[in-house]
Amino acid sequence: MLKREKSEKLYEEALNYFPGGVNSPVRAFKAVEGKPLFIKKGDGAYMWDEDDNQYIDFCCSFGPLILGHNHPAVYSNLIKNIANGTSYGAPTRLENELAKLILSKNPFIDKLRFVSSGTEAAMSAIRLARGFTGRNKIIKFEGCYHGHVDALLVKAGSGLATFGESSSAGVPSKVVEDTIVIPLNDIAAVEACFEKYPNEIACIALEPIPANNGLLIQEKSFLQKLREICDKNGALLFFDEVISGFRVAFAGAAEFYGITPDVVAYGKIIGGGLPVGAYGAKKEVMAHVSPEGPVYQAGTLSGNPVAMSAGIAQLSVCAQPGFYEDQAERTSFFTSAVNAYAKEKGYPFKMVSIGSIFWLNFDNKTIRRADEINSDMGNFKKLHKTLLEHGVYLGPSGYEVGFVSLAHSKEILKEASEKFCLALDACFKG
Ligand SMILES: Cc1ncc(COP(=O)(O)O)c(C=O)c1O
Repeated sequence: MLKREKSEKLYEEALNYFPGGVNSPVRAFKAVEGKPLFIKKGDGAYMWDEDDNQYIDFCCSFGPLILGHNHPAVYSNLIKNIANGTSYGAPTRLENELAKLILSKNPFIDKLRFVSSGTEAAMSAIRLARGFTGRNKIIKFEGCYHGHVDALLVKAGSGLATFGESSSAGVPSKVVEDTIVIPLNDIAAVEACFEKYPNEIACIALEPIPANNGLLIQEKSFLQKLREICDKNGALLFFDEVISGFRVAFAGAAEFYGITPDVVAYGKIIGGGLPVGAYGAKKEVMAHVSPEGPVYQAGTLSGNPVAMSAGIAQLSVCAQPGFYEDQAERTSFFTSAVNAYAKEKGYPFKMVSIGSIFWLNFDNKTIRRADEINSDMGNFKKLHKTLLEHGVYLGPSGYEVGFVSLAHSKEILKEASEKFCLALDACFKG
């Protein structure tokens, strides 16, 4: 049995300080009916909790750590730059350096603006789309998450097109009344929205690789059709690449699928494990952002030099030839071993993956829409618990995806796949 005394004590204490004892809800282990483990340190593919239990980490801080924990290049650039102070409220060479690195390998955007989180990036991208087009309505898809932006915290209902009904208390209905929510993989619903609201829709917003509510991989033809519909109707195509950016290819899903968005949001990997986000677009669109244009957006710690230095170090490694091919190859080595075992045993389970993202689907069929997910999370809870006991850490929700990092060598992935197979037995036989 896992030792948990120190984590439990810290959790009891944290309950006095933070709602639910945490500073971001999914960390609370509510979805797996457990208590959070308090993490002491990470190195490579491993993390250790306060009770000194060691885990192979597939959460990777929910995505940012594509090189694993404590990568030497990130560590040394951070140490070098932190010696100069932590923030100036004035531009630095480091902002130019990170922007140059990104823009030189990304044909989809000419300029960008650094912010401090994915939420800020998505919020600002929507504001820019509205400011640029002079239109208010936006389309979003059921199952796509864009951070805790008021206008995007919207629950979808059934039917063709459902107008915003907020899925969080504290979001006034007025704020979401211009958000139209429709199911993924449903072009007819998108077309119907444009027919109903001609010249009113500013943008179609989506995660081109929806990875916040399971992994709902879309067909390229769907993304292509969205591009065409936007062109036909003078709307912008907004790719929220906070997860997929620098993850499936350096220039994200846009590069992976070869589809050009008009506005893009980045986060997670871009900051090398420190808080950075960014949004970008072609010059003509970015010219609308303050101080060049009328769309206001600002940030005290935007482009923070310490965070920039971590981003520069991380993205320099990602930019090396063969990086993404190697990531995808190791990930498929891992997922195919587990899938072959599940198939041999006849378990209703399939690891879905793209690039170095994977998701545990307790079902054998291919799904592309949020309402197709098997909502019985009983088996996920068992699997999660068993894996923790065996020293494998996954994000504590069956709707979250897992990540493979550069530090997950084939040896580690082989060991992890054997542990997954044991955990599957515990789920389906136990
Ligand atoms: C696609 C997507 N957009 C936006 C966000 C919000 O990013 P952050 O949590 O950094 O605010 C997330 C976070 O998971 C995300 O996955």
